[in-house]
Amino acid sequence: MRAFIVYCHPSEDSFTRKMRDEFIKGIKDSGNEYEISDLYEMDFRSDITEAEYLRDAYYTENGDVAADVLDEQRKINSSDAIVFIYPVFWTEAPAKLVGWFDRVWTYGFAYGDKTMKLLDKGLIMCSAGNPVDRLEKFGLLNSMKKVMFGDRLINRVKQTEFVVFDKTSRENPEREANLDENLKKAYEIGKTLFDKKEEKFSVEDRFFTVYENSESGEVSDQTIFSYHQKGNVIWAEYSGGSIIKGFLLGTMDEDHNLHFTYEHINTDGEKKSGACDSTPRYENGKLRFYESWKWMNGEEGTSIIEEI
Ligand SMILES: Cc1cc2nc3c(=O)[nH]c(=O)nc-3n(C[C@H](O)[C@H](O)[C@H](O)COP(=O)(O)O)c2cc1C
Repeated sequence: MRAFIVYCHPSEDSFTRKMRDEFIKGIKDSGNEYEISDLYEMDFRSDITEAEYLRDAYYTENGDVAADVLDEQRKINSSDAIVFIYPVFWTEAPAKLVGWFDRVWTYGFAYGDKTMKLLDKGLIMCSAGNPVDRLEKFGLLNSMKKVMFGDRLINRVKQTEFVVFDKTSRENPEREANLDENLKKAYEIGKTLFDKKEEKFSVEDRFFTVYENSESGEVSDQTIFSYHQKGNVIWAEYSGGSIIKGFLLGTMDEDHNLHFTYEHINTDGEKKSGACDSTPRYENGKLRFYESWKWMNGEEGTSIIEEI
């Protein structure tokens, strides 16, 4: 198996560089192969030109794609996994890597009638000065994941993993204290990159809409549910159709059934709430939840939601 590493850091004197090297050692020791684009070393041009912009914005599939971009696309299509290694800069990848997406994700390759291979795995390994729980609390980690997996890599990789090496700013004594442990972790990630891992069932970051609902239900196929999960705690925000804003909160049991209470305000300005038990099933390759719910006034119903 072969990994394509897109690495972006302006300095060799960095934690990210050490982490990258350990990760590569791990890949080598696993007997797998890798190819790397070191964007600073290559002096990769990250500014999209007007001609490149016009080609992509007008959905023009002419053969006029720059040689450096074609080379990146070749590296992708001859690999099984893509790995991005970078430091977090202002809750993003460094601008050079953002520009890499602007130029390499061309019309006809990454979107449109795309020729980009569906890769087995997309892995992000980034270093962050902040503690990961702070990035989580303020929604910053979720934003980074959303941009990477919900946009750039969506439908382009089968499996995703986002690993943050946190508290690595130079002023933080934990940078040095955790160094050996972090480098060991980077090595292990490289060594096991292509191992078959059992994916834990989770509703984290998954979107659903209504497939079927009882008469007395209020949500519809215009309603979007954005689910999250941490441990066995699940929650979601929902809106659309006759729902202005709704929230649900509950737990997932060992059989992956959800038990939650929900509350929303509808377009008539009414505040409604109830409780729901929900069972997952895969049908036609899609994840559905079969829901039995009860409003606070005792009225009951059933619905089915389906993953988008
Ligand atoms: C311009 C700049 C912006 C940064 N922005 C963030 C940030 O938004 N969030 C964060 O957690 N760390 C941020 N950091 C810290 C970097 O992620 C930090 O460089 C890294 O964690 C330490 O690794 P390094 O030695 O490889 O640079 C920033 C650093 C720089 C230089």
